[in-house]
Amino acid sequence: MAEDVLETNQPKLLKWTALVVLAIVCLVGLCIAMLGMGRIGGAQVAIDPNRIPDLKHGMKLYTVSCATCHGAAGKGLPHQGAPLANSAFVTNSTDLQLILMLKIGRTQDDPKSVMKLPMPAKGGYSNLTDNDLHDVAAYIRTFDTKVATNQ
Ligand code: HEC
Repeated sequence: MAEDVLETNQPKLLKWTALVVLAIVCLVGLCIAMLGMGRIGGAQVAIDPNRIPDLKHGMKLYTVSCATCHGAAGKGLPHQGAPLANSAFVTNSTDLQLILMLKIGRTQDDPKSVMKLPMPAKGGYSNLTDNDLHDVAAYIRTFDTKVATNQ
């Protein structure tokens, strides 16, 4: 009888060990896959490619969240925020690149830094969503023409 128990117990234990090892391997694999997709660690933006930005909403958000540093017309303020009107960075960035920068902000040691000053992520307004930033990004692109026509 005792031999029976020994014989059936060992394969059971092996089975469990194999299951636990398999679970750990799967979890580690999942973490690596998520890291690769940028879901852990790195930030990412997700905008529906068919979404049309809402300029009015963008203007409202800009006035509240950005104008204190960048000025109401985006001309920039000394020691506060860089000019956004005629900014090469704004002009040369795709929407997603621009939104990503707004989302994560910029450190003063960033190679793209124009003022050697940090910009807080989302201007410090952490409740802004990717779609909000899409609206704000579209709005700041209108500064170029406003400055050119002196509106
Ligand atoms: C607390 C002040 C502050 C707030 C609020 C702020 N910014 Fe900034 N922003 C900065 C500073 C400072 C820089 C310049 C960083 C650097 O040295 O490159 C900057 C840079 C930028 C740039 C890059 C300009 C370029 O030519 O490279 C963009 C675009 C921008 N801000 C947009 C925004 C928007 C949109 C908002 C509102 C959601 C916002 N910022 C809120 C301070 C601020």
